[in-house]
Amino acid sequence: MAEALRVGIAGLGTVGASVARVLRDKAAELTRQCGREVVVSAVSARDRKRDRGVDLGAAKWFDDPVAMAQAADIDVFVELIGGDEGPSRSSVKAALEAGRHVVTANKALLAKHGVALAEIAEKKGVLLNYEAAVAGGIPVIKTMREAMAGNSVTRVFGILNGTCNYILTRMEAEGLSFDACLKDAQRLGYAEADPTFDIEGHDTAHKLSILTSLAFGTRIAANDIYMEGISNISQADIRAASDLGYRIKLLGVAQRTESGIEQRVHPTMVPTASVIAQVHGVTNAVAIETDILGELLLSGPGAGGNATASAVVGDIADIAKSRPGFQHGPVFGLPAKELRPYKKAQMRSHAGGYFIRLTVHDRIGVFAAIAKRMADNDISLESIVQHAAGPDTALQKTVILVTHETTEAAVRKAVDGITKDDHLTDKPQVIRIERAE
Ligand SMILES: NC(=O)c1ccc[n+]([C@@H]2O[C@H](COP(=O)([O-])OP(=O)(O)OC[C@H]3O[C@@H](n4cnc5c(N)ncnc54)[C@H](OP(=O)(O)O)[C@@H]3O)[C@@H](O)[C@H]2O)c1
Repeated sequence: MAEALRVGIAGLGTVGASVARVLRDKAAELTRQCGREVVVSAVSARDRKRDRGVDLGAAKWFDDPVAMAQAADIDVFVELIGGDEGPSRSSVKAALEAGRHVVTANKALLAKHGVALAEIAEKKGVLLNYEAAVAGGIPVIKTMREAMAGNSVTRVFGILNGTCNYILTRMEAEGLSFDACLKDAQRLGYAEADPTFDIEGHDTAHKLSILTSLAFGTRIAANDIYMEGISNISQADIRAASDLGYRIKLLGVAQRTESGIEQRVHPTMVPTASVIAQVHGVTNAVAIETDILGELLLSGPGAGGNATASAVVGDIADIAKSRPGFQHGPVFGLPAKELRPYKKAQMRSHAGGYFIRLTVHDRIGVFAAIAKRMADNDISLESIVQHAAGPDTALQKTVILVTHETTEAAVRKAVDGITKDDHLTDKPQVIRIERAE
């Protein structure tokens, strides 16, 4: 049997401790599957004394993850610290430069430095595996990088943040407010004490930026993503969506268009009957649309110690199975140097249907004025109704419009016009409608 694969784990928190546990509990299966033992030979975290719930006695302790990354007695450096700078970046860089394979679950690091790190990995002939960085336990990276050769991706979209999907699911199922659902998510450990990163779409954007690169062979461009979070979604939106046959999801969408590649993260209405609309709670899903395959949807647990450890251990096992001298495939599907510059499509040229909810003064002529603003901007309406579900009173009414395909620029202009007409009693709400099977 080949020599054991020696793994160094940096970060022993939710994911790191779970990885150590799975490697211990599944040691016999992994040895059979990989044809060699996989042993945790070194670990690093901040607090040496903390009980990690798993016996790490045989592993050498490092206070400094960079020193562990460079140690001669590990073959794989597993980075589970988190963060896009500091110890995670310096240790991953050091490991790759020292010719060690790297496995990471760190989407923030890859979104910012992925291409530079891939260049080092490819130069050194080592693997940089990151299955757990996008949609946790769902094997989307392998699917896109390895199982879809020859396919041209036209669109990739998904529910990539469990916290947001949990909140939206409960708002719809139980008629609760956004704030009440967020508090529950925090109590249950699904949301951080500071939830901004999740609910405003940053986490989804990091993951989307990696999928975009894999889908379109472009350099990662996380800063070019249009982003809106879910904090302004109200019960009025959820109920109106439901009446119209839609469900609201926070989607990350990357799409090839004539003017470039769109990358956007925002609350989205998807048809209630579509497969992605059936993805509830903390579950994640990724839909990939290609010319050969059509639409593929992968769904499953997107976070949590075990689900994430499953993906990390899968990445470690791939390294254990690889043989010396074997040429590894490129990190992002194409060699890092051949990834094309990302050509951004402007959000104002986005084409699609729109849901517009307006709270207006209850007076004669408002309906006609709204319809005129739409017509002036060449927006054709699928429906315009005065809706009973909104905060209607004797003085104000809710008007819901659903457009046929139009552009973002036209919708913004029309809504600006309606706002200037002084008919609104509250901020207008605009939610994009996404085509989904
Ligand atoms: N949690 C999930 O469900 C999930 C899912 C997908 C991806 N991820 C990604 O996985 C990574 C880890 O997440 P996590 O939830 O496991 O985080 P976590 O529970 O906060 O654990 C972070 C670990 O890093 C250690 N650490 C921090 N600074 C360090 C330093 N300077 N040197 C050595 N170790 C240091 C901490 O040590 P101490 O314990 O001693 O403080 C802790 O063990 C992140 O990139 C995250 O985005 C997480």
